[in-house]
Amino acid sequence: MKHLLGIEDLSKEEIESLIDSAVELKAGRCLDGPKPLLGETWAMIFTKSSTRTRVSFEVGLNELGARPMFLNANDVQLGRGEPIKDTARVLGRMVDGAIIRTFDQQDVVDFAEYGKIPTINALTDEEHPCQILADLLTIRELLGGWEGKKIAFFGDGDCNMGRSWAWAAKRLGFELVIAAPAAFQPDDEFMGRLGEAPVTVTDDVEVAAKNSDVLYTDTWVSMGKEAEAADRLATLAPFQINDEVVSIANPGAIVQHCLPAYRGKEITESVLEARADEIFQEAENRLHAQKAILVALAAAR
Ligand code: CP
Ligand code: NVA
Repeated sequence: MKHLLGIEDLSKEEIESLIDSAVELKAGRCLDGPKPLLGETWAMIFTKSSTRTRVSFEVGLNELGARPMFLNANDVQLGRGEPIKDTARVLGRMVDGAIIRTFDQQDVVDFAEYGKIPTINALTDEEHPCQILADLLTIRELLGGWEGKKIAFFGDGDCNMGRSWAWAAKRLGFELVIAAPAAFQPDDEFMGRLGEAPVTVTDDVEVAAKNSDVLYTDTWVSMGKEAEAADRLATLAPFQINDEVVSIANPGAIVQHCLPAYRGKEITESVLEARADEIFQEAENRLHAQKAILVALAAAR
């Protein structure tokens, strides 16, 4: 694995190996742990806001011996129109790896190609692979694994999280049901690219929740979609995870949310607080999963 640009690019074995490594890194976390990135500098180029991704990468890089260099895209020449491929060719000669949060998936693809340094997708409009790896780690911890499990995703099924979940289902073979209104279901181009996969799409919340082991949601207004907020909130309202939806799922089902959560929108206050331990364990797992990604990329150079 030279880069982590999307779950789409990973094999089943690569995903399993990253989760195994994350389990070990979490169990062995200590102040003087191994430092495979000792002395390195990793650039973190962010065009969108972040709490979890930024903090977990900064802490993770420090723990592995590297220095994170946070670059708000608006503070560097990228924000004034310097092409991503030129930015990549400059940074690639100075830093050891790059972590990029932006809009267009093609930008992280181009950065990886032109920078020639390990490149990580820290969220684009297309995929959020780091989040999915943390979610899989949490599912392994809380449910013993994903084999034979049914994961139900509620809300904007055509956003980065819905798409990354679909690739994870295809690679790992678990059942994924996306419950979304027609306007927010994965589009035909995506479903065609996904091909044969254990993924179904429905507008029936009950069908999705029934027999499910994981109830998953994400904001209804992803970053960059703020102008559509009113329409999205109205159309997606029936797809909220609330006590009734939880009551339909399997006994023992867990609730997951990539966060940040908007209470009263995609999830109720009642469900979020009742399931806070599961949801914030998932947030903590961003750190362990991303350390596994960094270690794997360093080893592959
Ligand atoms: N889940 C997630 O990526 O959170 P941030 O936007 O806070 O990084
Ligand atoms: N779909 C959301 C995820 C936030 C972590 C967004 O892109 O804003």
